[in-house]
Amino acid sequence: MPTYNLAPVTTLDYRRLAERRLPRFLFDYIDGGCNQEQTMAANCNDFARIGLKQRVMVNVESVSTQTTLLGQDMSMPIMLAPVGMAGMMARRGEVQAARAAEKARVPYTLSTMGVCTLEEINAQVDKPIWFQLYMLRDRSAVETLLKKALDNGCNTLVFTVDLAVPGARHRDYRNGMVGKVTPKVAVGKAWQLLTRPQWVYNVGLKGQPHGIGNLRELVPNPNSLSDTKDWIDDQFDPSVTWKDIEWLRKIWPGKLIIKGVMEVDDARAAVDVGADALVVSNHGGRQLDGVASSIRKLPDVARAVGSQAEVYVDGGIRDGVDVFKALALGAKGVMIGRPWIWAAAGAGEQGVYDLLQVFQWELETAMKLAGVVSLDQINADVLDGEVFRA
Ligand code: FNR
Repeated sequence: MPTYNLAPVTTLDYRRLAERRLPRFLFDYIDGGCNQEQTMAANCNDFARIGLKQRVMVNVESVSTQTTLLGQDMSMPIMLAPVGMAGMMARRGEVQAARAAEKARVPYTLSTMGVCTLEEINAQVDKPIWFQLYMLRDRSAVETLLKKALDNGCNTLVFTVDLAVPGARHRDYRNGMVGKVTPKVAVGKAWQLLTRPQWVYNVGLKGQPHGIGNLRELVPNPNSLSDTKDWIDDQFDPSVTWKDIEWLRKIWPGKLIIKGVMEVDDARAAVDVGADALVVSNHGGRQLDGVASSIRKLPDVARAVGSQAEVYVDGGIRDGVDVFKALALGAKGVMIGRPWIWAAAGAGEQGVYDLLQVFQWELETAMKLAGVVSLDQINADVLDGEVFRA
């Protein structure tokens, strides 16, 4: 058989490209989950257990995936989830993804742990990006970050609540991508790996600022990357409670999305502190192994929240049909994490843009074949029988 250089189409095509391109420790950082990776697997596998009905003889000549989330118009109900260190996976990776998202008319969320700064990205796009925040012990540093976000036109904050501590990610541990909280053996190697001369050269990072862009300036008297890393490790605040979000709500004038809620009680608490939206998420199976898939938790949360806030979901969404299923189960929108970072690593800005186009085409096709023409027609009626059938 001749071998063809096939164009990447699906998420898994981009995953393969990323695997070819990235050094092991970076590919594993994206690809892995925590512990035995059971929750990560469930996130994907549970989508395969949701059945759809084929409907015929409906006029589906024109369908629209257009939607408005938190008052913002977008081409489809998909958002790029915050992914830390994207700028290590592709040259100026955050900028590339933000540009692709803008072109596809969907929101891009910059992680607290991004390599590129808010200023750098803002200079490369016309529409404001979204910013994701982890709470830092130094609340004045949080205020500085939020001001920086506002100064750069950002009007939507994604506050992530499911990382009281990082999960036990064994692939990272094996590779030396660890922090202060992990057992002794490999401590301290992470930042050395991230600056390996060979990798800096390969990805074209030579001469480019790296490290964690938005946090870098907050570190008092840094001498080296490990000073920055120690500061970040010390700053992650496991004592955060809903009270702190009340404080955040008071000082943040824009929209507030709470990301990482899985239980109905927590969803209610998020609504009570004034969240405009929440994301049903287990952090892509990177935190507590044994937690249910996020899609399984979505229906109860969506029912409990009703119209008090918008409900989104992420985890395991790999194509447009998965998006369709998530909407049928009560989500107003979805976030994708690994799909876009694989595409960025494998094929840069063009890859992220192309992948988003494929998601849209798949979502439109699913709608047409299920006999619906707009997103508001997608509800439980499109599902076949018992939802999570074996
Ligand atoms: C993440 N995620 C994440 N979330 C967040 O709030 N801040 C962050 O910095 C990161 N960093 C991060 C890095 C990598 C490599 C991955 C894979 C994920 C979680 C992310 O936003 C999202 O919740 C999941 O990725 C969704 O699951 P899928 O789409 O990857 O299956």
